[in-house]
Amino acid sequence: MPLPAAFAGRLRVPVIAAPMFLISGPDLVVSCCRNGVVGSFPALNQRSTAGFADWLDEISGRLDDADDAAPFGVNLVVHRSNPRLEADLAVVIERRVPLIITSLGLNRDLIKAVHGYGGLVFHDVINLAFAAKAADAGVDGLIAVLAGAGGHAGPLNPFAALADIRRIFDGTLILGGALSTGAQVAAVRMAGADMAYLGTRFMATQESMAPEALRSMLLGASAADIVYTPAISGVHGNFLRPSILAAGRDPDDLSKPASLDFGATEAKAWRDIWAAGQGVGTIDDLPAAADLCLRLANEYEAALAGAGRLSCRAVGEPVG
Ligand SMILES: Cc1cc2nc3c(=O)[nH]c(=O)nc-3n(C[C@H](O)[C@H](O)[C@H](O)COP(=O)(O)O)c2cc1C
Repeated sequence: MPLPAAFAGRLRVPVIAAPMFLISGPDLVVSCCRNGVVGSFPALNQRSTAGFADWLDEISGRLDDADDAAPFGVNLVVHRSNPRLEADLAVVIERRVPLIITSLGLNRDLIKAVHGYGGLVFHDVINLAFAAKAADAGVDGLIAVLAGAGGHAGPLNPFAALADIRRIFDGTLILGGALSTGAQVAAVRMAGADMAYLGTRFMATQESMAPEALRSMLLGASAADIVYTPAISGVHGNFLRPSILAAGRDPDDLSKPASLDFGATEAKAWRDIWAAGQGVGTIDDLPAAADLCLRLANEYEAALAGAGRLSCRAVGEPVG
């Protein structure tokens, strides 16, 4: 099961710090990449294409002296309601961004354009049908965003969906959803994925752009505080119950908005009501991203080294 050649020797742990609307920016991306984790951010976190280009230049400049830094990625929302897609893609091509993460739509021309300059395209999927379409379109990686993942997510059990997708796709397979520790990253690899996709865990870091009240809410929440609903943005996703209450809505009686809209309506929804995954229960600190990357790498190595202990054939056990 492959990691892209462009990642070789540049990762401390097979993790992508997932792009998060209103949360990830240059500080988080640079810190992750400098510490062996793929950093990423949504292009729409900047208000304009010019601002987006400035962030790309800033990130490249700050990583200039780190030859072995992990590559970084940009998330492009490939949905007809995103008015900036064409202009943002032109900037991506000009700057030769190493990794493009596409969500909410598949675009063959985009894939061709990114491959044209040697970039990689990873595509978000929530089930086998979407995975098959994206594999056919020639993406380099599939990100299975499954049960319990923060933001837009599918409902499927990760073991079931991973096994399904692996049967039809031999590229890089990434799993997202409620992952917070290096041991869980090791488990993801044993379950058949190549990399893990962590959002909520990186939201609770010093470098994230999460407001203070959201940070406190993350520290206090557990998995049962996550509500899975299409009512916030028109697509099923996971959101923090206390933030729904704070916005004056009833988490147990939400009505779905009329349509998906990546203009002002969507931005307002995400500003008032906070997305997070079921992994919140395991988050009880706000480390610097560098420390989190190191911790994940250490936990990952320890889990791999200790895995033999779990064998039913461990020393002293009767066999056969
Ligand atoms: C606050 C927040 C904002 C998000 N914004 C985006 C986004 O703009 N684009 C995107 O593709 N995914 C977005 N996601 C989903 C993440 O990229 C990723 O799939 C998810 O966080 C993984 O699950 P986890 O949070 O349980 O680790 C967001 C997730 C969160 C928590």
